[in-house]
Amino acid sequence: MDKPFCNKQTDKMVVSRSEFKFAPNRVCKASRLSVAPMMDWTDRHCRYLHRMLSRETLLYTEMVPAPALVRGDAVHLLDHSPEEHPTALQLGGSDPSELAAAARLGEMAGYDEINLNVGCPSDRVQSGRFGAVLMKTPELVAECALAMREAVSVEVTVKCRIGVDTQEPQETLPEFLSQVSAVGVERFVIHARKAWLEGLSPKENRNIPSLDYSLVRAMKRLFPGLHLSVNGGITELEKAKAFLDSGLDGVMIGRAAYHTPADILAAADPLIFGCGARRDPVQVATDMLPYIERHVSDGGKLSQITRHMLGLFAGRPGARQWRRVLSKGAHRPGAGPELVQRALRQFDTTIGFNDPIAPVELVPSPVPR
Ligand SMILES: Cc1cc2nc3c(=O)[nH]c(=O)nc-3n(C[C@H](O)[C@H](O)[C@H](O)COP(=O)(O)O)c2cc1C
Repeated sequence: MDKPFCNKQTDKMVVSRSEFKFAPNRVCKASRLSVAPMMDWTDRHCRYLHRMLSRETLLYTEMVPAPALVRGDAVHLLDHSPEEHPTALQLGGSDPSELAAAARLGEMAGYDEINLNVGCPSDRVQSGRFGAVLMKTPELVAECALAMREAVSVEVTVKCRIGVDTQEPQETLPEFLSQVSAVGVERFVIHARKAWLEGLSPKENRNIPSLDYSLVRAMKRLFPGLHLSVNGGITELEKAKAFLDSGLDGVMIGRAAYHTPADILAAADPLIFGCGARRDPVQVATDMLPYIERHVSDGGKLSQITRHMLGLFAGRPGARQWRRVLSKGAHRPGAGPELVQRALRQFDTTIGFNDPIAPVELVPSPVPR
């Protein structure tokens, strides 16, 4: 197995079981930029790809329901590769003791952070009384967070909305942050739009309610001691950098990181974290080959990995052909890494990340140490 990236970091690491974990301050630094938890998308293969693009960015799992994890039905969702660190496990639930038990399982599995989902608006999630509906009961969120904090030594964080339904975010968001931080939660990700629990689908809830970034900035002024990341509608690294420069502590990116991973992640290390070099997508695809080889020889399907790689060349010459070769061939019985090699053959390796679509020249942000 390849060495974990964290070997190259200067910060102290702690070893949990046989895997490497990042020290809490290192995880917090990584949260300057994070890839959002996205169900069915940010599985272990997706995270491995994202890690090949950025060594520094914090990666979130899909939401794992605490009841299923504790019952033993979802333990496979904890599987991950040591290369993925720093990685945060997101849990869904509203029962403090169940969440504590699930957090413990997550820590034992080696996750660097446990995050509580207070933002997901789907019916499935509401019926279990977790996700965005919990914005209405900050005292219950505080109780859950406290139980989780007492159960684990890794940091417990919360991802929330600015409000739900008819709540007035200017009033309810500060109250929420105040109550939840009172039990010791110091790091929050705020999806800067409301969720409408009745009448809008989860997809519509990610687009229709308007974004209120200025409220998130106001929360940073009101709670200067909290680590606040903004999320929602951020589609360019330049915009992420602007948020950081304006005083926010972190930026979380979801859909854009998934659909255009090279645009968001390949330059993240030098531009957001002030270290490392911009990654070339051709090199990244090549670096995926040993991982793909292992997965396929262990009986996995090629498409389980390549479905996350379809957007790797988005916006670049050859993107369509790349997608075509992978989508047509990856489901065929016996398909393996040679298909990816074939799809790569069309690229002239002299065409790097900068050519011919040169990203805007950015000056790296000063990174707080
Ligand atoms: C397919 C998909 C699945 C998602 N699943 C989750 C989830 O499991 N947990 C969560 O907190 N948010 C989930 N979200 C919401 C994202 O984490 C993020 O908050 C949202 O997409 C807004 O960020 P963006 O505009 O950068 O995509 C999901 C979003 C998408 C597109």
